Amino acid sequence: MGSLLVDDIGELVTNVAGTGDGGPLGLRRDAAVLIEDGRVAWVGPARYAPAADRRVDAQGGAVLPGFVDSHAHLVFAGDRAAEFAARMAGEPYTGGGIRTTVGATRAASDGQLRATVRRLVGEAMRQGTTTIETKSGYGLTVADEARSLRIAAEVTGETTFLGAHVVPAEYAGRPDDYVGLVCGPMLAAAAPYARWVDVFCERGAFDADHARAILTVGQAAGLGVRLHANQLNPGPGVQLGVELGAASVDHCTHLSDADVDALAGSPTVATLLPGAEFSTRSPYPDARRLLDAGVTVALATDCNPGSSYTSSMPFCVALAVREMRMTPAEAVWAATAGGARALRRDDVGVLRPGARADLVVLDAPSHLHLAYRPGVPLIRQVLHNGVPQCRS
Ligand code: NIG
Ligand code: FE
Repeated sequence: MGSLLVDDIGELVTNVAGTGDGGPLGLRRDAAVLIEDGRVAWVGPARYAPAADRRVDAQGGAVLPGFVDSHAHLVFAGDRAAEFAARMAGEPYTGGGIRTTVGATRAASDGQLRATVRRLVGEAMRQGTTTIETKSGYGLTVADEARSLRIAAEVTGETTFLGAHVVPAEYAGRPDDYVGLVCGPMLAAAAPYARWVDVFCERGAFDADHARAILTVGQAAGLGVRLHANQLNPGPGVQLGVELGAASVDHCTHLSDADVDALAGSPTVATLLPGAEFSTRSPYPDARRLLDAGVTVALATDCNPGSSYTSSMPFCVALAVREMRMTPAEAVWAATAGGARALRRDDVGVLRPGARADLVVLDAPSHLHLAYRPGVPLIRQVLHNGVPQCRS
């Protein structure tokens, strides 16, 4: 593979707190990055850069760790553009459309699902995402959940079993029976392909008792816990997640003071998904309240055909800054290091020796431009495991 030197960097975001400018992004100027065997081998002043076999010229652009999108639902078929249009004409989002996607997903071939997952992972990569989590949750049978995760596992190690997304139509009125299926044969079939277990804990989906039962057996099967919590209403999800030691509770749109306190006193990350509020025309979560309380915040896309059909982390960064009162630095941290925390990873979301050489080169001199220039394709180059992916 040989060595590769990235230089002529206008601004380097390392996320090594206290280095460089001393802030959380660890900003450095006049820096260079040496990559060997897919890993960062050295970071330092360009004038001291070691010799390398090849060079990537950042042309004065900012260089960041690749985005870590810790929440997406990429295994599905069909789309729900008509549902989106109806919402924009005033209909509320209820999550009821999930069953439409379940029907389309069950009817799809493996090849169709695989093509969609790969298309979306490629789309995300071109927008700077080098680590992506993806969930099952549109199969909701033993066989369809297992195949969703098998296909997801072909493209990412961050796979999440979400058999408890909604109660499927054939179990209508029998949620206990469905939870029994999820905890038993479905989990057994899914676990070999999954790293995480997730539940949509929400009125109309799964209550706290069901969620606790599923997450606890998932944990016993060796899966890490994360959950969809407090998205559409206040509820028990956040505190349940903290109680179970979840890596992350996701959405966090409707929080009580007790929820914020519970998060602040725990290692659980609050993952905010502003694409969902954008696409459902809902009030955004209050990121400022969480940050001021000392909660670790991540940003992710929630890419799915219903509530947030975007794969763009730069779009989420811009929304977080404009609509959720995050500073550009907080939003960039949350989209990189925050996502890594939400996945309990220390090899991504950071640029220091030993980290995975996942880097984004911007067509802009500073990370500020990600929010300052919304909607502009600023990702000039992406390196994944040290390998250049694309040039746009
Ligand atoms: O995270 N909230 C539950 N699941 C998805 C939406 C899924 C859908 O509408 O298809 C979410 O927003
Ligand atoms: Fe989601």
